[in-house]
Amino acid sequence: MTHAVTSQVVILDYGSQYTQLITRRVREVEVYSVLLPGDASFKRVFEENDPTAIILSGGPNSVHVKGAPSVPDGFWEECEKRQIPVLGICYGMQLIVHCLGGKVEGLGKGEFGRMPVVDIPTHTKLFGEDIEPQNVWMSHGDEATVLPEGFKCIGRSEKGCVVAIEHETKNLYGLQYHPEVTHSEKGMRTLKHFLFNIAKCERSWSMANVLEEQIQIVKEKVGETDHVICALSGGVDSCVAATLVHKAIGDRLHCCFVDNGLLRYKEAERVMEMFKGELHLPVDCVDITEKMLSELKGVTDPERKRKIIGKEFIECFKEYKKTVEKKTGIVPKFLVQGTLYPDVIESCPPPGSDQKHSHTIKSHHNVGGLPKELGFELIEPLRVLFKDEVRRLGKIMDVPRNFVARHPFPGPGLAVRILGDVTENDALETLRLVDEIYINAIKEFGLYDEIWQAFAVHLPIKSVGVQGDQRSHSHVVGLRAITSNDGMTADWYPFDPKFLQEVSNRITNQVRAVNRVVYDITSKPPSTIEWE
Ligand code: XMP
Repeated sequence: MTHAVTSQVVILDYGSQYTQLITRRVREVEVYSVLLPGDASFKRVFEENDPTAIILSGGPNSVHVKGAPSVPDGFWEECEKRQIPVLGICYGMQLIVHCLGGKVEGLGKGEFGRMPVVDIPTHTKLFGEDIEPQNVWMSHGDEATVLPEGFKCIGRSEKGCVVAIEHETKNLYGLQYHPEVTHSEKGMRTLKHFLFNIAKCERSWSMANVLEEQIQIVKEKVGETDHVICALSGGVDSCVAATLVHKAIGDRLHCCFVDNGLLRYKEAERVMEMFKGELHLPVDCVDITEKMLSELKGVTDPERKRKIIGKEFIECFKEYKKTVEKKTGIVPKFLVQGTLYPDVIESCPPPGSDQKHSHTIKSHHNVGGLPKELGFELIEPLRVLFKDEVRRLGKIMDVPRNFVARHPFPGPGLAVRILGDVTENDALETLRLVDEIYINAIKEFGLYDEIWQAFAVHLPIKSVGVQGDQRSHSHVVGLRAITSNDGMTADWYPFDPKFLQEVSNRITNQVRAVNRVVYDITSKPPSTIEWE
């Protein structure tokens, strides 16, 4: 990637949890950035990516430990030769110090969390005008105790640690803290100063360019006559990917939306209306409810449920391929998938693991993941994008706002939200009603966008209650709402008790089969987001 951009920042990943955030921050200011593993080769860094600037990320290792990740041979000389500015962050700064003849030691001081930076001299290249003391976010055990020749310290922590360094003529800079997190008050200003004033990056990364470029790529790949097929899940990624491909090749795209009988209240009708009515996508809705529920009858083990649902989906998709072939007389050759950048990044493995570097593996297999045996060539127009960029791309293609901001929904649907047999006790019907009331209330109270994911769970137990002067023995439902960045870790959302009271009243009044509502107050870990 990509001919549309004129500046490109290479970020080398040494394993910090914030590395993706640095990449996004750079893109937020319209400069394209790519994330490469810390052990990327010289050729990959300099020849394949031709960086305008390089950022070395943080990471959990100590530079002085044997085997700690470093830069490729010839790195510093090449940067100097080509005058490529380098900014090391946290571990990245320590790497600069260590590699160029300074000293990094673990003196047991360590600094974690918010700290003031003091002693910033009036004339620095890295801070520009920002010479006032500032609070920053620190997370380090080791520290630079001797700086390499030619470097000067341009900021210290209150404890006296070196937290910012620069070498004026070689264009090398280091920050011990994390400028990319919002807790670092002027972090973004420093990053922007580095990108625009020091590295002279140009703003050439915009979703309009991405759209234009990806449409062109799809056109070239598919040619004039071939046909393309896409499974729409009702999620944002597949919808945006399909909309883009449709712009490129029109109705040679064939989309299939599978109603597997495990969807939310009126979901199939609602998304079909949007696909057809608003986005004018060529979509067929294939209803496999009956088959799916008969296969799931009596199944209580969550993993078996997932396997059955996955298998039925693939069968259905194979049939769809045949349908398209019959309709057009041509075997569809390509498959659109909504793969995103975080799914393809090779990240630095945790220290101590035997892996070299790993692909960030999506923890779950969504409907996009169809087996190779189906024999398609893949079209993945979102492969270079983060989720927030996909949303922006959706917006400029007029995908409705309430759709692009949707909470994620798991491929196996309500089956993993009904504990036990999904076909018993009208559980699907009950859960749909409860979930609809809950989500509508969240929207009504203006909380939907603050929450990363919210849903109701049907429990396989009954409890005693009083409904309409009579003793009842009805179902318990659980409510879950979490905040998260990527679904890998999560916190439960602290609703106002008034909200919970209102929702509980609405549910127990409107859904006869429920007489008790509980709220899930566990974080992930130790829990997972879904209950099964
Ligand atoms: P957990 O429950 O593992 O969920 O904390 C993390 C995120 O993944 C979603 N999820 C799934 N998505 N197939 C999917 O496509 C699955 O089998 C599956 N299980 C969980 C979950 O909704 C949350 O967003």
